[in-house]
Amino acid sequence: MEFQSIAADVKLGENVKIHKFVNLYGCEVGDNTKIGVFVEIQKNARVGKNCKISSHTFICEGVTIEDNVFIGHSVVFINDMYPRATNGNGGLQTEKDWKVERILVKKGASIGSNCTILSNVVIGENAIIGAGSVVTKDVPPNVIVAGNPARFFRTIDFLSQPDVNEQYVLYEFLKERIKV
Ligand SMILES: CC(C)(COP(=O)(O)OP(=O)(O)OC[C@H]1O[C@@H](n2cnc3c(N)ncnc32)[C@H](O)[C@@H]1OP(=O)(O)O)[C@@H](O)C(=O)NCCC(=O)NCCS
Repeated sequence: MEFQSIAADVKLGENVKIHKFVNLYGCEVGDNTKIGVFVEIQKNARVGKNCKISSHTFICEGVTIEDNVFIGHSVVFINDMYPRATNGNGGLQTEKDWKVERILVKKGASIGSNCTILSNVVIGENAIIGAGSVVTKDVPPNVIVAGNPARFFRTIDFLSQPDVNEQYVLYEFLKERIKV
């Protein structure tokens, strides 16, 4: 379609809706997902089914987004914590000069607008990341985090989901924050 750049190697599911000025290459997008204007999704990134990717978001190589995930506007994912323009020989870096770092956003999570997600983190199922947050560490399932750096804010209907494993994850998360 006009004003879209979708490379031949992109794997699109059924009924994916792609707005204008979108740049996709080497990536995978699942059924029914919507992609807003000025979104770029790089090679080896994966977006699941029924996701909403809002305008101006950048999804880089190394990012995996599971099903039913909401990504707000202008969200940036990071895949290189110590970036350099040039290599040891003074030439521009190529893919051989650095290693892609990964991010996993689990099913049903939501990332507010204008967030930055640093590499090597996992955002748990159904977690919500407040607008403008910088996520530096793993986020447990079913919690809200916000701020820079993103800190625990509150749980989401936690008591209605009495999963022992999730309680343990939350306990570990809180323990680290309040240093008990
Ligand atoms: C994080 C969030 C879910 C919290 O919602 P909430 O629980 O209703 O929070 P409240 O509005 O009651 O605010 C509670 C406190 O947190 C602060 N706060 C709210 N959101 C914040 C954020 N994103 N970052 C930092 N602080 C935040 C408020 O200023 C308030 O502080 P105070 O108690 O000192 O006055 C929500 O504010 C948010 O950021 N949602 C994401 C929205 C978004 O980006 N949508 C994208 C598509 S439009």
